[in-house]
Amino acid sequence: MHIQKVLEELVREHTSIIIAHRLSTIERADKIIVLHHSQLREMGKHNDLLKQMRIYCTLYKMQYKKQEGDIVPSMLARQQRVLDKTEIRKLLQFSGELATGAGKVLRRGFNRSLKIDYKGRINPVTEYDLKSERYIISHISKRFPDHAVLAEEGSGAREKSPFRWIIDPLDGTVNYTHGFPIYCVSIAVEFEGDIVAGTVYDPERDELFHAGLKMGAYLNQKRIKVSSEKILQRALLATGFAYNIGTAKRTNLGLFARMAKKAQGLRRAGSAAIDLCWLACGRIDGFWEFYLHPWDTAAAKLIVEEAGGQVSRINGASYSIFNPDILASNGHLHRAMMTVLTGKAH
Ligand code: IPD
Ligand code: CA
Ligand code: CA
Repeated sequence: MHIQKVLEELVREHTSIIIAHRLSTIERADKIIVLHHSQLREMGKHNDLLKQMRIYCTLYKMQYKKQEGDIVPSMLARQQRVLDKTEIRKLLQFSGELATGAGKVLRRGFNRSLKIDYKGRINPVTEYDLKSERYIISHISKRFPDHAVLAEEGSGAREKSPFRWIIDPLDGTVNYTHGFPIYCVSIAVEFEGDIVAGTVYDPERDELFHAGLKMGAYLNQKRIKVSSEKILQRALLATGFAYNIGTAKRTNLGLFARMAKKAQGLRRAGSAAIDLCWLACGRIDGFWEFYLHPWDTAAAKLIVEEAGGQVSRINGASYSIFNPDILASNGHLHRAMMTVLTGKAH
């Protein structure tokens, strides 16, 4: 039975209600316990819960046993998570408009003399990073005033929404400041912790990459897939170096040298989101980097996966956009790349 019906019935009957161990996410709850209304009132969480329930009702299906004290393993809630493809399509349509709009903003500033500030020793931020971000956030705020936002330059911070927009308004800022034409806009939409829509726009080539969860990956509306290369010695790979290269323990320089001897070629183009999208459409066969941020990889990770590629941490563990290292490949080369990068056979 759909959780919405279950909860509506429970609330109407004033008998009992379901409470998640962590109120913020039923999905990630350790367990879900059926409690009596009076117990909830005692706990002082009645109103808060009902509010939460209204959100979850529309999002999840779960199996339900109606006895008080029942413990429903959270796996049941997880199994049948629902977000409409039509809804994802709408998010993608809007993200595409935002990314191309922001791309136009960036093109206006490209190859001009720019006002540049520094967030660190070699980490620049231009007036156009900020203009692009303001453009994107202002449109999201109008259309989805309740949605949360995580954007690189820090605007539009809102919390507590099942939806979160993760934005890099200009990926490739060093390139941009030098007139080196590889940079992009990256916009992802996360729903209850999963990236459901990813969009990357490259204004210099007018290339719009997008992917929806379980809906495939596209470049300018044409389906894309990763390469079929299986031999590392024939593979073209990409990587990058973080701004902390002067001080960090893991500089990637040693691995760069090691991989350069194994692969056919190695590139450092200067935009992690573009590297990943080019992996998704078969222009390169693998990519790795350290110390990237969630906004660098959120959209493109989904694009790679939906194009049939594999994304993990460098040691093969599952990757979250909050992890400090990433390995992405066409799948065929994953083990071979892991072996070179970790120095252990896989
Ligand atoms: C950078 C680019 C670059 C990568 C850096 C990132 P930014 O993002 O993605 O390719 O090597 O680690 O920080 O600063 O241009 O948005
Ligand atoms: Ca970036
Ligand atoms: Ca950036």
